[in-house]
Amino acid sequence: MPYETIIVEHRGPVALITLNRPKALNALSDQLVTDLGNAVDAAEADDNVGAIVITGSEKAFAAGADIKEMAGFSYMDVYKANFITAKWERVAKCRKPVIAAVAGYALGGGCELAMMCDFILAGDNAKFGQPEITIGTIPGAGGTQRLTRFVGKSKAMEMCLTGRNMDAAEAERAGLVSRIVPVAELVDEAVKVAERIAKLSRPIVMMAKESVNKAYETTLTEGVTFERRLFHSTFATEDQKEGMAAFAEKRQPDWKNR
Ligand code: HXC
Repeated sequence: MPYETIIVEHRGPVALITLNRPKALNALSDQLVTDLGNAVDAAEADDNVGAIVITGSEKAFAAGADIKEMAGFSYMDVYKANFITAKWERVAKCRKPVIAAVAGYALGGGCELAMMCDFILAGDNAKFGQPEITIGTIPGAGGTQRLTRFVGKSKAMEMCLTGRNMDAAEAERAGLVSRIVPVAELVDEAVKVAERIAKLSRPIVMMAKESVNKAYETTLTEGVTFERRLFHSTFATEDQKEGMAAFAEKRQPDWKNR
């Protein structure tokens, strides 16, 4: 499907979604968020896709929600439309793994979008921030919640109250990103990691993702119980039999995705 504001390519089992509004530094317009949601729907429904990478340009992953688009909205406009963050949740709800490959600015909604992905690989020029306070609003797509869970209260509070950015090195130290990659290699590296995941057993990968995500939503005791139930259920899959047999037979597993 052709999209107005994003480009979707398939690299082997990986769907690579590139945000593509370069003149606006990939500001997340309503159209872009709609396109992104539709692309995630398509990737999730496509059996050939085992993992998704979302990226932007070298200058900007995304510089936030589209300020020019939302400047004139009234309370009733945003309330009735559940503006627009309800649509963004599509990325957070995707059951297949989603990697954010972030180069340049990931500000406001851009930082929030990256945090909705399963993990973030950062280019060495990446800058993360929640500058909404400087334009008279606050983060509205989970920034105050997810950033606090990633980096702790002190750093999240400072960033949300001052609007200052974090560079890639600080973001890695703080646990916001999993790794820093030279910007020229970022997308290829993200696709390589996504491909590695996509070649594993798809249902087992989904279970691992579901279990890690549970850690954000529940107590340790409940989370560990949830993990144990899923762990037990892996023993009902063909892929657990195949994976362990392949190890014992010193060969590569031939995953059945069942
Ligand atoms: C609309 C944007 C934009 C944005 C940049 N542009 N960010 N348009 N919405 N969020 C546009 C600029 O207006 C400009 O258009 C072009 O992109 C290039 O930007 P410049 O500012 O000229 O580039 P530069 O000097 O390099 O500065 C880069 C920047 C700056 C530091 C990232 O653009 C900036 O501060 N942007 C806004 C960041 C921000 O406040 N984000 C939070 C948004 S609120 P023209 O036409 O002049 O060339 C948000 C809330 C989310 O995200 C809540 C959920 C809905």
